[in-house]
Amino acid sequence: MPRSPSGVHVTGWGAYAPSLKLTNAHLEQMVDTNDEWIVTRTGIRERRIAGPDETTASMAAVAGLRAIATAGLQPDDIDLIIVGTLTPDYPMPSTAALVKGAIGNKRAAAFDLGAACSGFIYGYATAHAYVAAGMAKNVLVIGAETLSRATDFTDRGTCLLFGDAAGAVVLSASDEPGGTMGIEMTTEPSGAYLIWLPAGGAARPSCDATLEAREHYMKMKGSETFKMAVRTLGSTSQASLAKAGLELEDIDLVVPHQANIRIIEGLAKSLGFPMERVFVNVDCYGNTSAASVPLALSEAVASGRVKQGDKLLLVAFGSGLTSGAITFEWTADPANAARADGIGPESVKIAPGYLEPVNPFPPALEWVRSGAASPAAAQPPTRRESHNA
Ligand SMILES: CC(C)(COP(=O)(O)OP(=O)(O)OC[C@H]1O[C@@H](n2cnc3c(N)ncnc32)[C@H](O)[C@@H]1OP(=O)(O)O)[C@@H](O)C(=O)NCCC(=O)NCCS
Repeated sequence: MPRSPSGVHVTGWGAYAPSLKLTNAHLEQMVDTNDEWIVTRTGIRERRIAGPDETTASMAAVAGLRAIATAGLQPDDIDLIIVGTLTPDYPMPSTAALVKGAIGNKRAAAFDLGAACSGFIYGYATAHAYVAAGMAKNVLVIGAETLSRATDFTDRGTCLLFGDAAGAVVLSASDEPGGTMGIEMTTEPSGAYLIWLPAGGAARPSCDATLEAREHYMKMKGSETFKMAVRTLGSTSQASLAKAGLELEDIDLVVPHQANIRIIEGLAKSLGFPMERVFVNVDCYGNTSAASVPLALSEAVASGRVKQGDKLLLVAFGSGLTSGAITFEWTADPANAARADGIGPESVKIAPGYLEPVNPFPPALEWVRSGAASPAAAQPPTRRESHNA
Protein backbone atom coordinates (compact mmCIF):
# COMPACT_ATOMS: atom_id res chain seq x y z
CA MET A 1 0.00 0.00 0.00
CA PRO A 2 1.39 3.48 -0.86
CA ARG A 3 2.49 5.79 1.95
CA SER A 4 -0.38 7.86 3.35
CA PRO A 5 -0.12 11.57 2.55
CA SER A 6 -0.11 14.09 5.33
CA GLY A 7 -2.92 16.07 3.78
CA VAL A 8 -6.21 15.64 1.89
CA HIS A 9 -7.07 18.76 -0.07
CA VAL A 10 -9.96 20.08 -2.15
CA THR A 11 -8.21 20.55 -5.49
CA GLY A 12 -11.23 20.79 -7.80
CA TRP A 13 -14.80 22.04 -7.58
CA GLY A 14 -17.74 22.51 -9.90
CA ALA A 15 -21.51 22.61 -10.08
CA TYR A 16 -24.39 22.43 -12.51
CA ALA A 17 -27.97 23.66 -12.23
CA PRO A 18 -30.59 23.20 -14.94
CA SER A 19 -31.85 26.35 -16.64
CA LEU A 20 -35.61 26.04 -16.06
CA LYS A 21 -36.74 28.18 -13.11
CA LEU A 22 -39.74 27.46 -10.90
CA THR A 23 -40.56 30.75 -9.16
CA ASN A 24 -42.79 31.58 -6.23
CA ALA A 25 -45.13 33.24 -8.75
CA HIS A 26 -45.48 29.87 -10.50
CA LEU A 27 -46.23 28.12 -7.19
CA GLU A 28 -48.89 30.73 -6.35
CA GLN A 29 -50.81 29.38 -9.36
CA MET A 30 -50.46 25.75 -8.28
CA VAL A 31 -51.13 25.61 -4.53
CA ASP A 32 -52.64 27.84 -1.84
CA THR A 33 -49.56 29.93 -1.03
CA ASN A 34 -48.01 33.30 -1.78
CA ASP A 35 -44.59 34.82 -2.43
CA GLU A 36 -44.55 36.77 0.82
CA TRP A 37 -45.20 33.63 2.93
CA ILE A 38 -42.58 31.60 1.09
CA VAL A 39 -39.89 34.29 1.27
CA THR A 40 -40.60 35.05 4.93
CA ARG A 41 -40.75 31.43 6.08
CA THR A 42 -38.02 29.94 3.87
CA GLY A 43 -36.02 32.66 2.06
CA ILE A 44 -36.60 30.83 -1.23
CA ARG A 45 -37.54 32.80 -4.37
CA GLU A 46 -36.93 30.23 -7.11
CA ARG A 47 -35.62 26.71 -7.75
CA ARG A 48 -34.24 24.92 -10.81
CA ILE A 49 -36.02 22.00 -12.49
CA ALA A 50 -34.27 19.37 -14.61
CA GLY A 51 -35.54 19.13 -18.18
CA PRO A 52 -37.05 15.92 -19.60
CA ASP A 53 -33.66 14.82 -20.91
CA GLU A 54 -31.72 15.62 -17.73
CA THR A 55 -31.21 13.12 -14.93
CA THR A 56 -29.28 12.92 -11.70
CA ALA A 57 -26.45 11.16 -13.54
CA SER A 58 -26.29 13.67 -16.39
CA MET A 59 -26.19 16.67 -14.03
CA ALA A 60 -23.70 14.90 -11.75
CA ALA A 61 -21.44 14.21 -14.73
CA VAL A 62 -21.32 17.88 -15.76
CA ALA A 63 -20.50 19.00 -12.20
CA GLY A 64 -17.94 16.18 -11.96
CA LEU A 65 -16.21 17.07 -15.23
CA ARG A 66 -16.01 20.70 -14.13
CA ALA A 67 -14.42 19.67 -10.81
CA ILE A 68 -11.89 17.43 -12.58
CA ALA A 69 -10.94 20.23 -15.00
CA THR A 70 -10.61 22.76 -12.18
CA ALA A 71 -8.24 20.36 -10.39
CA GLY A 72 -6.12 20.31 -13.55
CA LEU A 73 -6.76 16.57 -13.93
CA GLN A 74 -8.04 14.25 -16.65
CA PRO A 75 -11.02 11.91 -16.00
CA ASP A 76 -8.68 8.91 -15.83
CA ASP A 77 -6.75 10.50 -12.96
CA ILE A 78 -9.76 9.77 -10.74
CA ASP A 79 -9.46 6.57 -8.66
CA LEU A 80 -12.89 6.61 -7.01
CA ILE A 81 -16.25 8.23 -7.75
CA ILE A 82 -18.78 8.70 -4.93
CA VAL A 83 -22.24 10.10 -5.64
CA GLY A 84 -24.38 11.19 -2.69
CA THR A 85 -28.01 11.17 -3.80
CA LEU A 86 -31.52 10.28 -2.68
CA THR A 87 -32.77 10.48 -6.27
CA PRO A 88 -30.58 8.01 -8.19
CA ASP A 89 -31.52 7.41 -11.81
CA TYR A 90 -32.29 3.77 -10.87
CA PRO A 91 -32.06 1.55 -7.75
CA MET A 92 -29.36 -0.17 -9.79
CA PRO A 93 -26.98 0.40 -11.49
CA SER A 94 -25.58 3.11 -9.25
CA THR A 95 -25.67 6.67 -10.50
CA ALA A 96 -21.91 6.74 -9.87
CA ALA A 97 -21.46 3.94 -12.43
CA LEU A 98 -23.42 5.99 -15.00
CA VAL A 99 -21.32 9.06 -14.17
CA LYS A 100 -18.14 7.07 -14.68
CA GLY A 101 -19.29 6.18 -18.20
CA ALA A 102 -20.54 9.70 -18.90
CA ILE A 103 -17.23 11.39 -18.05
CA GLY A 104 -15.16 8.79 -19.90
CA ASN A 105 -13.26 7.43 -16.90
CA LYS A 106 -11.84 3.94 -17.51
CA ARG A 107 -10.38 3.02 -14.14
CA ALA A 108 -12.27 4.34 -11.09
CA ALA A 109 -14.32 2.36 -8.61
CA ALA A 110 -17.74 3.99 -8.32
CA PHE A 111 -20.60 3.80 -5.83
CA ASP A 112 -23.58 5.76 -4.51
CA LEU A 113 -23.93 6.86 -0.92
CA GLY A 114 -27.29 7.27 0.85
CA ALA A 115 -27.30 9.93 3.55
CA ALA A 116 -29.95 12.23 2.01
CA CYS A 117 -29.10 15.93 2.35
CA SER A 118 -25.89 15.04 4.23
CA GLY A 119 -24.83 12.84 1.30
CA PHE A 120 -22.12 15.17 0.04
CA ILE A 121 -20.59 15.63 3.52
CA TYR A 122 -20.67 11.87 4.13
CA GLY A 123 -19.15 11.40 0.67
CA TYR A 124 -16.38 13.89 1.47
CA ALA A 125 -15.67 12.04 4.75
CA THR A 126 -15.55 8.68 2.94
CA ALA A 127 -13.27 10.06 0.23
CA HIS A 128 -11.02 11.57 2.88
CA ALA A 129 -10.68 8.18 4.54
CA TYR A 130 -9.74 6.50 1.23
CA VAL A 131 -7.11 9.12 0.45
CA ALA A 132 -5.73 9.27 3.99
CA ALA A 133 -5.41 5.46 3.99
CA GLY A 134 -3.46 5.60 0.74
CA MET A 135 -6.19 3.66 -1.11
CA ALA A 136 -6.87 6.48 -3.58
CA LYS A 137 -5.01 9.56 -4.77
CA ASN A 138 -7.83 11.54 -6.37
CA VAL A 139 -11.50 11.03 -5.47
CA LEU A 140 -14.45 12.68 -7.21
CA VAL A 141 -17.20 13.41 -4.66
CA ILE A 142 -20.53 14.49 -6.11
CA GLY A 143 -23.85 15.49 -4.57
CA ALA A 144 -26.63 15.38 -7.17
CA GLU A 145 -30.42 15.40 -7.00
CA THR A 146 -33.47 15.48 -9.23
CA LEU A 147 -35.87 16.16 -6.35
CA SER A 148 -38.57 17.49 -8.69
CA ARG A 149 -39.31 13.85 -9.58
CA ALA A 150 -39.98 13.04 -5.91
CA THR A 151 -41.93 16.20 -5.05
CA ASP A 152 -45.72 16.32 -4.66
CA PHE A 153 -46.72 19.53 -6.42
CA THR A 154 -50.13 19.40 -4.71
CA ASP A 155 -48.53 19.54 -1.23
CA ARG A 156 -47.83 23.15 -0.24
CA GLY A 157 -45.88 21.99 2.80
CA THR A 158 -43.08 20.53 0.66
CA CYS A 159 -43.34 21.62 -3.00
CA LEU A 160 -41.94 25.09 -2.37
CA LEU A 161 -38.76 23.80 -0.76
CA PHE A 162 -36.97 21.58 -3.25
CA GLY A 163 -35.02 21.92 -6.49
CA ASP A 164 -32.61 20.08 -8.82
CA ALA A 165 -28.82 20.52 -9.17
CA ALA A 166 -25.42 18.88 -8.81
CA GLY A 167 -22.15 19.88 -7.21
CA ALA A 168 -18.77 18.21 -6.92
CA VAL A 169 -15.26 18.40 -5.52
CA VAL A 170 -12.06 16.49 -6.17
CA LEU A 171 -10.18 15.48 -3.04
CA SER A 172 -6.50 14.80 -3.61
CA ALA A 173 -3.55 13.51 -1.62
CA SER A 174 -0.93 16.16 -0.88
CA ASP A 175 2.07 16.64 1.35
CA GLU A 176 1.44 20.39 1.38
CA PRO A 177 0.09 21.97 4.59
CA GLY A 178 -3.65 22.61 4.94
CA GLY A 179 -6.57 20.55 3.70
CA THR A 180 -9.06 18.61 5.80
CA MET A 181 -8.81 19.28 9.54
CA GLY A 182 -11.90 17.96 11.34
CA ILE A 183 -14.77 15.66 10.33
CA GLU A 184 -17.92 14.89 12.33
CA MET A 185 -20.85 12.70 11.28
CA THR A 186 -23.96 11.79 13.30
CA THR A 187 -27.17 9.83 12.69
CA GLU A 188 -30.27 10.10 14.89
CA PRO A 189 -32.83 7.41 13.94
CA SER A 190 -35.38 8.92 16.36
CA GLY A 191 -36.00 11.40 13.54
CA ALA A 192 -35.99 8.83 10.75
CA TYR A 193 -39.59 9.44 9.67
CA LEU A 194 -39.65 13.23 10.03
CA ILE A 195 -38.69 13.50 6.37
CA TRP A 196 -38.94 10.39 4.25
CA LEU A 197 -40.08 8.83 1.01
CA PRO A 198 -42.36 5.95 1.98
CA ALA A 199 -42.74 3.88 -1.20
CA GLY A 200 -40.43 2.36 -3.79
CA GLY A 201 -38.11 0.49 -1.42
CA ALA A 202 -38.17 -3.11 -0.22
CA ALA A 203 -40.48 -2.34 2.73
CA ARG A 204 -43.15 -0.77 0.50
CA PRO A 205 -42.56 -1.67 -3.13
CA SER A 206 -44.46 0.63 -5.50
CA CYS A 207 -47.91 -0.66 -6.38
CA ASP A 208 -51.31 0.83 -7.24
CA ALA A 209 -52.05 1.42 -3.53
CA THR A 210 -48.83 3.33 -2.88
CA LEU A 211 -49.32 5.40 -6.04
CA GLU A 212 -52.90 6.16 -4.98
CA ALA A 213 -51.64 7.31 -1.56
CA ARG A 214 -48.95 9.44 -3.28
CA GLU A 215 -46.30 7.61 -1.25
CA HIS A 216 -43.75 7.92 -4.05
CA TYR A 217 -43.31 11.56 -2.99
CA MET A 218 -41.35 13.02 -0.07
CA LYS A 219 -43.31 13.47 3.18
CA MET A 220 -42.21 15.82 5.92
CA LYS A 221 -43.12 17.08 9.38
CA GLY A 222 -41.82 20.59 8.75
CA SER A 223 -41.66 22.26 12.14
CA GLU A 224 -40.23 19.18 13.94
CA THR A 225 -37.59 18.81 11.21
CA PHE A 226 -36.81 22.51 11.58
CA LYS A 227 -36.12 22.31 15.32
CA MET A 228 -34.02 19.17 15.07
CA ALA A 229 -32.07 20.69 12.16
CA VAL A 230 -31.01 23.81 14.06
CA ARG A 231 -29.96 21.79 17.11
CA THR A 232 -28.06 19.15 15.13
CA LEU A 233 -26.32 21.58 12.76
CA GLY A 234 -24.98 23.48 15.76
CA SER A 235 -23.70 20.46 17.70
CA THR A 236 -22.18 18.85 14.59
CA SER A 237 -20.40 22.08 13.67
CA GLN A 238 -18.95 22.40 17.18
CA ALA A 239 -17.74 18.78 17.15
CA SER A 240 -16.03 19.23 13.77
CA LEU A 241 -14.31 22.41 14.99
CA ALA A 242 -13.15 20.68 18.17
CA LYS A 243 -11.64 17.84 16.12
CA ALA A 244 -9.87 20.45 13.98
CA GLY A 245 -8.53 22.16 17.10
CA LEU A 246 -10.09 25.45 16.00
CA GLU A 247 -12.46 28.01 17.50
CA LEU A 248 -15.38 29.51 15.62
CA GLU A 249 -13.58 32.83 15.25
CA ASP A 250 -10.90 30.99 13.23
CA ILE A 251 -13.49 30.20 10.54
CA ASP A 252 -13.61 32.56 7.55
CA LEU A 253 -16.73 31.15 5.91
CA VAL A 254 -19.48 28.70 6.89
CA VAL A 255 -21.14 26.96 3.94
CA PRO A 256 -24.27 25.33 5.36
CA HIS A 257 -26.89 23.09 3.77
CA GLN A 258 -29.31 25.46 2.05
CA ALA A 259 -32.64 24.21 3.40
CA ASN A 260 -34.27 27.34 4.79
CA ILE A 261 -32.87 30.82 5.56
CA ARG A 262 -34.41 30.65 9.03
CA ILE A 263 -32.58 27.39 9.76
CA ILE A 264 -29.33 28.97 8.57
CA GLU A 265 -29.96 32.08 10.69
CA GLY A 266 -30.89 29.85 13.65
CA LEU A 267 -27.57 28.01 13.25
CA ALA A 268 -25.60 31.28 13.12
CA LYS A 269 -27.45 32.58 16.18
CA SER A 270 -26.92 29.38 18.19
CA LEU A 271 -23.20 29.46 17.36
CA GLY A 272 -22.89 33.21 17.92
CA PHE A 273 -21.44 33.48 14.39
CA PRO A 274 -22.04 36.53 12.13
CA MET A 275 -24.31 35.96 9.11
CA GLU A 276 -21.87 38.03 7.00
CA ARG A 277 -19.52 35.04 7.16
CA VAL A 278 -22.20 32.50 6.21
CA PHE A 279 -22.76 31.74 2.52
CA VAL A 280 -26.40 31.77 1.39
CA ASN A 281 -27.88 30.93 -2.02
CA VAL A 282 -31.10 29.22 -0.88
CA ASP A 283 -33.01 32.11 -2.49
CA CYS A 284 -31.94 30.99 -5.98
CA TYR A 285 -32.06 27.19 -5.71
CA GLY A 286 -34.13 26.10 -2.68
CA ASN A 287 -33.09 22.86 -1.02
CA THR A 288 -31.15 20.69 -3.48
CA SER A 289 -30.34 18.06 -0.82
CA ALA A 290 -26.95 16.42 -1.41
CA ALA A 291 -26.14 18.98 -4.14
CA SER A 292 -26.72 21.91 -1.80
CA VAL A 293 -23.32 22.25 -0.08
CA PRO A 294 -21.06 21.66 -3.12
CA LEU A 295 -23.25 23.99 -5.23
CA ALA A 296 -22.99 26.67 -2.53
CA LEU A 297 -19.24 26.07 -2.19
CA SER A 298 -18.69 26.51 -5.94
CA GLU A 299 -20.74 29.71 -5.95
CA ALA A 300 -18.89 31.00 -2.88
CA VAL A 301 -15.56 30.50 -4.66
CA ALA A 302 -16.89 32.03 -7.90
CA SER A 303 -18.15 35.10 -6.05
CA GLY A 304 -14.75 35.78 -4.45
CA ARG A 305 -15.78 34.74 -0.93
CA VAL A 306 -13.00 32.13 -0.62
CA LYS A 307 -9.24 32.70 -0.84
CA GLN A 308 -6.20 30.51 -0.32
CA GLY A 309 -5.52 29.95 3.39
CA ASP A 310 -9.17 30.47 4.44
CA LYS A 311 -10.65 28.05 6.99
CA LEU A 312 -14.06 26.79 5.92
CA LEU A 313 -16.80 24.91 7.74
CA LEU A 314 -19.22 22.85 5.63
CA VAL A 315 -22.27 21.53 7.52
CA ALA A 316 -25.44 19.68 6.54
CA PHE A 317 -28.35 17.68 7.92
CA GLY A 318 -30.91 15.45 6.27
CA SER A 319 -33.22 12.48 6.43
CA GLY A 320 -32.08 9.81 8.82
CA LEU A 321 -31.69 12.20 10.55
CA THR A 322 -28.12 12.48 9.38
CA SER A 323 -25.76 15.34 10.00
CA GLY A 324 -22.17 16.03 9.08
CA ALA A 325 -19.59 18.82 9.21
CA ILE A 326 -16.15 19.29 7.68
CA THR A 327 -13.58 21.86 8.80
CA PHE A 328 -10.79 22.40 6.29
CA GLU A 329 -8.28 24.88 4.96
CA TRP A 330 -8.80 25.97 1.35
CA THR A 331 -5.51 25.70 -0.54
CA ALA A 332 -6.48 25.81 -4.23
CA ASP A 333 -6.25 28.90 -6.42
CA PRO A 334 -9.85 30.09 -6.96
CA ALA A 335 -8.80 31.24 -10.47
CA ASN A 336 -8.46 27.56 -11.45
CA ALA A 337 -12.24 27.58 -11.96
CA ALA A 338 -11.55 29.09 -15.40
CA ARG A 339 -10.15 25.71 -16.46
CA ALA A 340 -13.75 24.42 -16.54
CA ASP A 341 -14.98 27.12 -18.93
CA GLY A 342 -16.72 25.52 -21.87
CA ILE A 343 -17.79 22.35 -20.02
CA GLY A 344 -21.56 21.86 -20.16
CA PRO A 345 -24.27 19.26 -20.71
CA GLU A 346 -22.99 18.64 -24.24
CA SER A 347 -19.65 17.52 -22.76
CA VAL A 348 -21.06 14.39 -21.13
CA LYS A 349 -21.94 11.19 -22.90
CA ILE A 350 -25.36 10.16 -21.60
CA ALA A 351 -27.89 9.09 -24.22
CA PRO A 352 -31.30 10.24 -22.99
CA GLY A 353 -33.02 7.71 -25.23
CA TYR A 354 -32.88 5.08 -22.52
CA LEU A 355 -35.71 6.90 -20.73
CA GLU A 356 -38.26 6.11 -23.44
CA PRO A 357 -41.23 5.73 -23.22
CA VAL A 358 -41.49 7.32 -19.76
CA ASN A 359 -41.34 11.10 -19.52
CA PRO A 360 -39.71 11.86 -16.17
CA PHE A 361 -40.70 15.54 -16.25
CA PRO A 362 -43.41 16.34 -13.66
CA PRO A 363 -46.75 16.82 -15.48
CA ALA A 364 -47.70 19.50 -12.93
CA LEU A 365 -44.83 21.65 -14.29
CA GLU A 366 -45.39 21.15 -18.03
CA TRP A 367 -47.08 24.57 -18.21
CA VAL A 368 -44.00 26.21 -16.68
CA ARG A 369 -41.76 24.47 -19.21
CA SER A 370 -44.00 25.52 -22.10
CA GLY A 371 -43.79 29.17 -21.03
CA ALA A 372 -47.57 29.42 -20.58
CA ALA A 373 -48.92 32.21 -18.36
CA SER A 374 -50.93 29.81 -16.20
CA PRO A 375 -51.70 26.09 -15.88
CA ALA A 376 -55.06 26.69 -17.56
CA ALA A 377 -53.45 28.44 -20.53
CA ALA A 378 -51.12 25.52 -21.26
CA GLN A 379 -51.71 22.95 -23.96
CA PRO A 380 -52.24 19.48 -22.45
CA PRO A 381 -49.02 17.47 -22.75
CA THR A 382 -48.83 15.43 -25.92
CA ARG A 383 -45.40 14.00 -25.20
CA ARG A 384 -44.49 10.63 -23.84
CA GLU A 385 -46.79 9.39 -21.11
CA SER A 386 -45.56 10.25 -17.60
CA HIS A 387 -44.88 8.03 -14.62
CA ASN A 388 -46.54 10.36 -12.15
CA ALA A 389 -49.50 12.01 -13.81
C1 LIG B 1 -41.90 23.74 5.95
C2 LIG B 1 -41.69 25.03 6.69
C3 LIG B 1 -41.21 26.11 5.72
C4 LIG B 1 -43.02 25.48 7.28
O1 LIG B 1 -42.80 26.69 8.01
P1 LIG B 1 -43.40 26.84 9.47
O2 LIG B 1 -43.05 28.18 9.93
O3 LIG B 1 -42.91 25.66 10.28
O4 LIG B 1 -44.93 26.76 9.21
P2 LIG B 1 -46.02 25.79 9.85
O5 LIG B 1 -45.92 24.43 9.24
O6 LIG B 1 -45.95 25.89 11.36
O7 LIG B 1 -47.34 26.49 9.34
C5 LIG B 1 -47.67 27.82 9.73
C6 LIG B 1 -48.94 28.22 9.03
O8 LIG B 1 -48.66 28.42 7.63
C7 LIG B 1 -49.54 27.61 6.85
N1 LIG B 1 -48.81 27.15 5.68
C8 LIG B 1 -48.09 26.00 5.53
N2 LIG B 1 -47.54 25.96 4.31
C9 LIG B 1 -47.91 27.08 3.67
C10 LIG B 1 -47.66 27.61 2.40
N3 LIG B 1 -46.90 26.98 1.50
N4 LIG B 1 -48.18 28.81 2.09
C11 LIG B 1 -48.95 29.49 2.95
N5 LIG B 1 -49.23 29.03 4.20
C12 LIG B 1 -48.72 27.86 4.54
C13 LIG B 1 -49.90 26.45 7.76
O9 LIG B 1 -51.12 25.86 7.36
C14 LIG B 1 -50.03 27.17 9.08
O10 LIG B 1 -51.25 27.84 9.14
P3 LIG B 1 -52.09 27.91 10.51
O11 LIG B 1 -51.19 28.64 11.47
O12 LIG B 1 -53.32 28.64 10.12
O13 LIG B 1 -52.31 26.48 10.91
C15 LIG B 1 -40.65 24.88 7.83
O14 LIG B 1 -41.21 24.10 8.87
C16 LIG B 1 -39.39 24.22 7.39
O15 LIG B 1 -38.65 24.74 6.56
N6 LIG B 1 -39.05 23.06 8.01
C17 LIG B 1 -37.79 22.38 7.72
C18 LIG B 1 -37.92 21.66 6.43
C19 LIG B 1 -36.62 21.19 5.91
O16 LIG B 1 -35.62 21.85 6.02
N7 LIG B 1 -36.63 20.03 5.30
C20 LIG B 1 -35.52 19.50 4.66
C21 LIG B 1 -34.67 18.72 5.56
S1 LIG B 1 -33.15 18.33 4.76
